Amino acid sequence: MKPTRPFDPTPVITIDGPTASGKGTVAAPVAATLGFHLLDSGALYRLAALASFRYNVDKDDAQALATLIDSLHITFREGCTQLDGLDVSTEIRAEEVGNRASAIAVHPDVRHALIVRQRAFRKRPGLVADGRDMGTVIFPDATLKVFLTASVEVRAARRHKQLMQKGFSANMDNLLRDLRERDARDTSRAAASLKPAADAKTLDTSGLSVDQAVEQIIFWFSEVRV
Ligand code: CDP
Repeated sequence: MKPTRPFDPTPVITIDGPTASGKGTVAAPVAATLGFHLLDSGALYRLAALASFRYNVDKDDAQALATLIDSLHITFREGCTQLDGLDVSTEIRAEEVGNRASAIAVHPDVRHALIVRQRAFRKRPGLVADGRDMGTVIFPDATLKVFLTASVEVRAARRHKQLMQKGFSANMDNLLRDLRERDARDTSRAAASLKPAADAKTLDTSGLSVDQAVEQIIFWFSEVRV
């Protein structure tokens, strides 16, 4: 029998979904509305990816990547993400880093190395965690599990806008291709593949504004939290 972790009453809302489905955009206002902490788990994978470029670690050397991750000094403070003392908030948003993050995320050793760091975000009064496996692997006992979807065209358009706003250049055809590749890798990998938890509520955000998506999640949370 698997050892069970002690019961933790701190509420968690998990928001999982594919690339550019709006997880981060929706998770931040949900957390702010409830006064909860926020975990952008993708940022951890992106930080690991950036570090692998910086310290020349091969994307297929799972053991070396896990050792590297254990040694990283990471801080998230007031919108600023630091890696080993340097502000990398913008750098980690580059597509090149996102693609590398998706590539290294296939390794079970890499995923394992990030588990404790992710669970440490669960603090009172509560947590909103977004990613791919928040409801299935990291917080299987979450209070509310949401799975966000949107058509690939809507997601590519959103990602294009986001990259332009951050000052990166972007081409729609390349973005669509990368998105499809990343979807395929995220859904087909053996370790923690992208899929809704059995008890997740699915929300298609293709035709929804950010406010509408946030409202729906807050409503669901009010329903489960009697
Ligand atoms: O921006 P995008 O939605 O593409 O990705 P992200 O949430 O910033 O995460 C970057 C990559 O890390 C994703 O493409 C996933 O492959 C991986 N990831 C993961 O495997 N598990 C998570 N919980 C979060 C991200």
